[in-house]
Amino acid sequence: MEETVEIKEGLQGVYITKSSICKVDGQEGKLYYRGYKIEDLANYSSYEEVCYLLLYGKLPNSKELVDFTEKMKKEREISEKTKDIIRKFSKEAQTLDVLRTAMSSLSADDGKPYSDNESENIEKAIKIIAKTATISAAIGRIKDGKGILEPDNSLNHSANFLYMLTDKKPDKDSEKLMDIMFILHAEHSSNASTFATLVACSTLADIYAGVTAGVAALKGPLHGGADEAAVKMMKEIGSPDNTENYIEEALAGKKKIMGFGHRVYKTYDPRAKILKSYLDKIKGNSGGEINKLIEISLRAEKMMIDKLGKSHGIWPNVDFFSGPLYLHLNIKPELFDTVFASSRTVGWCAHVIEYWRNNKLFRPLEQYEGSVDLVYKNISERS
Ligand code: CMC
Repeated sequence: MEETVEIKEGLQGVYITKSSICKVDGQEGKLYYRGYKIEDLANYSSYEEVCYLLLYGKLPNSKELVDFTEKMKKEREISEKTKDIIRKFSKEAQTLDVLRTAMSSLSADDGKPYSDNESENIEKAIKIIAKTATISAAIGRIKDGKGILEPDNSLNHSANFLYMLTDKKPDKDSEKLMDIMFILHAEHSSNASTFATLVACSTLADIYAGVTAGVAALKGPLHGGADEAAVKMMKEIGSPDNTENYIEEALAGKKKIMGFGHRVYKTYDPRAKILKSYLDKIKGNSGGEINKLIEISLRAEKMMIDKLGKSHGIWPNVDFFSGPLYLHLNIKPELFDTVFASSRTVGWCAHVIEYWRNNKLFRPLEQYEGSVDLVYKNISERS
C-alpha cells in the first residue's frame, strides 16, 4: 500500500535552517540585512559596507571599512585564463552562461578551494565578490565587441564596475544609483539561488562550487531573469497608451507579468518601492526611450495593483523597475541578470559560511510513483 506523505511543492512554507543574515517580512513588506532596514542601507550605506555587514554580522568602524575596501580592491583583477574563457565564448552566448563558466574558473586560481576555516572562507568570499564584478563587466565589453578594461582602484566598487563596463567614470548620481542596485540585490534569504548554493555546499563542496550553483539557479525568468523579461515586455507594449490593453490581454491569456508576485512578499516589495523613487530622479536626465519605458512601467504598476494587488497579493517585486534604471546606467538588458548575480555573490557566500557552522547534508525525499519488480527482458524480446 502506498504510504501517505505530505509533499510541500516548491518547499513552500518549509524552513530549512536558522539564520541571522536577512529577515524578509512578506506581510509587512519589510526587509532587514543583519537587523538593519533596507531603506537605511540604501540611503546611507555603500555596497562595500553592506558586504562587510553581511559577511561579519556587524557594521564596520572607519578603519575596518578602509581595510575591507582595500582588500576588495586588491582582489579585483582576474587571471588571463579567466579572461580567455570570457573571450572564447561566442558573442551570441547568454551572459549568465559565460559568468557561470568564468566564475567556476576562479577555483582553479585558488590553491586550496575548500576550507573549513571561517576566516579563510571570508577571504575567499571577498575574492569572489570583487572578481565577479570584473568578470561581469568584461562579459559586457566582449559582448559589445570591445576589449576588457583593467579595474581602476581610485574608484569604489560601483563606480569601478561602471567604468570597467562603459570606459567612462560615472558622475556621482550614477555611482550612487549603481551602488543602490548592488545593495538591493545583495541578499534575500533562502531564495532559489541561495538555496542552490547551500545545497551544493552542504556536500562540503567548496564555496566556488556553491556560487556557481547559485548562478545556475538565478538564470530563469522566475528568478534573476525577471528584470530582463520585464523590460522586454515594456518594449513590446511600445507606447504608454497601449499599456492597459496589453496587460488586460496578457492576464486574460493567463500570462504572468514579469516583475510582479513573490513567494514571500504578499505586499509591495520594499526594494521595488526604493527603485520606484529613483524613476522620478532619472526621468529628467534620461533619453526619450527610457522615459517612455518609465511611463509604461508606472501605468502597468497601477493597473496590476488595481487588478491583482490587494485581491491576489501580487505586487511589484525588485525586478519590475530595475530595467529602466539599469538602462539609464548604460547596462543592456542581456547583462541584467549577470549584474544581479554579481551583487548577490555576497549573500550566497554569507549563507554558506553561516550554514557550515552547523552543516547538514541536504537530502530530501520523493514519493516514488513508478513500478517495481518489472521483469527485465533481453532487447530482442522487447516489442
Ligand atoms: N502575473 C500574473 N499572475 C501571477 C504572477 C504574475 N507576475 N505571479 C503569480 N501569479 C498568479 C499565478 O498565475 C497563480 O495563479 P493561479 O493560482 O490562478 O494559477 C498564482 O498567482 C500563484 O502563482 P505561483 O507562480 O504558483 O506562485 P509562487 O509563489 O510560486 O510565485 C513567483 C512566485 C515569483 C514565481 C511568481 O509570482 C512569478 O512567476 N512572478 C513573475 C516572475 C518574477 O517577477 N520573478 C521575480 C521574483 S522576485 C526577484 C527574484 O527572486 O529574483
